[in-house]
Amino acid sequence: MHIHNYEKIWLVLAMIMIVGFLTTVTYGATAVGIEMISDEEDTIDPGALDEDPRFAEPRVEQVGENEYEAYVVAQQYIFSPDPIEVPANSTVTFYVTSPDVIHGFQVAGTNANTMVIPGEVAKLTVETEEPGEHGIVCNEYCGSGHHVMEGKLIIHPEDEFEMEDDE
Ligand code: CUA
Repeated sequence: MHIHNYEKIWLVLAMIMIVGFLTTVTYGATAVGIEMISDEEDTIDPGALDEDPRFAEPRVEQVGENEYEAYVVAQQYIFSPDPIEVPANSTVTFYVTSPDVIHGFQVAGTNANTMVIPGEVAKLTVETEEPGEHGIVCNEYCGSGHHVMEGKLIIHPEDEFEMEDDE
């Protein structure tokens, strides 16, 4: 097939534009300080969270040099702990469960998002990048206070982050 040079130029320009759009979309999804890397579920008794070593005291724990685990309870109409505080440039695994109804757990403006179902522990691992504050929103309708159910994730600069010592 013969293609005129003039058409070739337009084809090349169209390709460049497509790659440009894809780059913009990808950049928008990942370059906001948090990158979601995995997501899965486990089971739990929703009526006995206060007897579960992970959720009796919702908290953030350091489990490795740059690794943290956050045990989060989503319930009508709060997230605990609030705020959730972690350092930048770390791997944070959130374990989120609910004692009452289905909630959502979404770090606003990122693709870190999971459904929180009573009886299940949603597990969500993210890489934190830049320091900053992110809203945590419930994106599943959970009752009259759904629209006010929100929390906060604070990503501290690494050199300013200290784990609270509760011994
Ligand atoms: Cu919790 Cu909507």
